[in-house]
Formats: sequence, structure tokens, C-alpha cells
Amino acid sequence: MNTVEKARISDVTQMHQLINYFADKDEMLPRPLSEIYENIRDYFVVRQGERIIACAALHVMWSDLAEIKSVAVAEGSQGQGLGDQLVEACLKEAKELGMPTVFCLTYKPAFFERLGFSQLDKMELPRKVWGECYRCPKFPDCDEVALIYHLEA
Ligand SMILES: CC(C)(COP(=O)(O)OP(=O)(O)OC[C@H]1O[C@@H](n2cnc3c(N)ncnc32)[C@H](O)[C@@H]1OP(=O)(O)O)[C@@H](O)C(=O)NCCC(=O)NCCS
Repeated sequence: MNTVEKARISDVTQMHQLINYFADKDEMLPRPLSEIYENIRDYFVVRQGERIIACAALHVMWSDLAEIKSVAVAEGSQGQGLGDQLVEACLKEAKELGMPTVFCLTYKPAFFERLGFSQLDKMELPRKVWGECYRCPKFPDCDEVALIYHLEA
């Protein structure tokens, strides 16, 4: 049984490869190695022996808002519930932190909608969210869909 764990420094190279494999296919945004190292505490992984087969991150933006990002499951391991487990781990951590709202920006809105997320106009997200967008290769033509999830008090 594959379990979701917090990431370790030694996982970063593989997480970077996994995320950027899908970014090259335009399925998600790329992340530089430096950003993953700097935010290593945000990341969850699923291991299979020495291999990282899935990852996701919860990044705190402000007092009332966190982002779920970089949800990636290796092709050979998809369809086994790992994506769901990773999002659930992020939501659990958000709840433990006392975070009322979580959002994501994605090309796969239907995956998140099944989990209770609802779509909203990107422009309704606070300006703070756009702080890192200038580094995005797609800036300023963001074509991701924004979704939001409200955690119970
Ligand atoms: C999207 C992704 C994270 C899903 O991970 P996964 O481990 O295959 O998903 P799960 O096995 O947990 O799937 C759970 C459910 O989600 C559904 N699902 C999977 N991908 C979906 C998608 N793109 N759209 C809608 N539903 C999807 C599955 O059919 C399954 O439904 P079921 O429980 O009714 O059978 C994975 O396909 C992936 O890493 N894709 C490439 C990167 C990417 O697009 N990330 C998106 C977020 S930025």
C-alpha cells in the first residue's frame, strides 16, 4: 500500500523531474529546482522503494488562503487513487493549520471538482496570488482554471 509522506531533501530531484515531465506536455506548470528546495516543507510525496511516484504541495499564501499545487502522479501509477490521496493530505494539513480556504489553478478542473472544489473567476482571487506569475512562462496569458475549496471550521 502506497502512503503519502512529507517530502525530504533527497526527493527533490525526482519531484522536479516528475513535475517537469508533465509541464513539458503542457499538463501543468514547470517548477524550477530552486523553488522546490525553498518550499520543500510544502510537499507531500508517495514512494515506491527509492522512487518518487507522486507529489503535491500545499503553499500558504495568507491568513485565509492556501494553494494546492504541483499535483503529479507518474504515468504508470495513475488511476490508483494517489492523486486523490495527495489532495486529501493537502486538505487535511490546511485544516490542521486552521486555513479556511484552499484554491488551485489547473488544466484538470474536473479532477478537483469531484473532490468538492468549485470553479471561480480567476480575477476573484486576491492579488497576492499573482505574486509568482511573472516567473510563469505563460505570463500574462494564464489559461489555467481556478477552483476553490472551503474547509469546515
Ligand atoms: C490528474 C492526476 C493528478 C490524477 O491522478 P491519479 O492518481 O491518476 O488520480 P486518482 O487515481 O486519484 O483518480 C481518482 C479519480 O479521479 C478521476 N480522474 C483522474 N484524472 C482525471 C481528470 N483529468 N479529470 C477528471 N477526473 C479525473 C479518476 O477517474 C478517478 O475517478 P473515480 O474515483 O471515479 O474512478 C494525474 O493524472 C496526473 O498527475 N496528471 C498529470 C499532471 C496533472 O495534470 N496534474 C493536474 C493537477 S496540476
